[in-house]
Amino acid sequence: MDRYAVLGQPVGHSKSPRIHAAFAASLDQKLLYEAYEIAPDELAPSLSRFHAEGWQGFNLTVPHKQAGATLCETRSDAAEQAGAVNTLIRTATGWHGDNTDGAGLVRDLMSNLGVEIRGKRVLVLGAGGAARGILAPLLAEGPSELAISNRNPWKPEEIAAALKPLGNIVPRTHLSLKGDRYDLVLNATSAGHSGSIPRLPPKLFAEGGVAYDLNYGQAAVPFLVW
Ligand code: ATR
Repeated sequence: MDRYAVLGQPVGHSKSPRIHAAFAASLDQKLLYEAYEIAPDELAPSLSRFHAEGWQGFNLTVPHKQAGATLCETRSDAAEQAGAVNTLIRTATGWHGDNTDGAGLVRDLMSNLGVEIRGKRVLVLGAGGAARGILAPLLAEGPSELAISNRNPWKPEEIAAALKPLGNIVPRTHLSLKGDRYDLVLNATSAGHSGSIPRLPPKLFAEGGVAYDLNYGQAAVPFLVW
């Protein structure tokens, strides 16, 4: 029996156990996939313990994506660009980190939902692990502008500087967005987990603009209602 789990805090909302059970069933793989609530300072010791017990790999969700990247011995290009991982694969010598958030998001937007990115003004709210995972894949689709806005103002500056070799990302703060209009606004903050949204100016959407929340279930409700 292969053993995997998703680690997060909170983690009760995660659909990963159901999603992975469906993958495994379609491949005739015998799989145990659990969800464990792990506090930030427990991530490193928990991974060591799980590995010693024979668990093979993990998904990481809020708030572990950036810390997880620092615990990896090797990282995929996507994880390296993001500085964040959502997937840990055990190798003979340590953890290999990958980040599938951006590829999954871009596919959902373009293939499932028919949302154009090329030539559009795109705004990402939040600058944590979830936001970091999607910026390079969004840039690769050729938006006319990609802006990132956050409550804590220095994080967008830092991310824009780090991703400069890949393209231009405009660092913003939520309040400075007043008067600007975007075709696509992606909520990558974790505010929805506590039932709130970032403090935003009232009119952010260009005509026909699209709102998308990277959270799902109850955590996506406050932003989508707004
Ligand atoms: P994740 O892995 O989901 O990105 P994270 O790395 O803990 O989780 O990042 C959380 C993000 O949500 C951050 O951008 C955080 O803003 P700060 O950097 O200013 O802390 C944002 N966030 C969380 N709660 C928020 C709230 N109530 N209002 C606005 N932003 C919030």
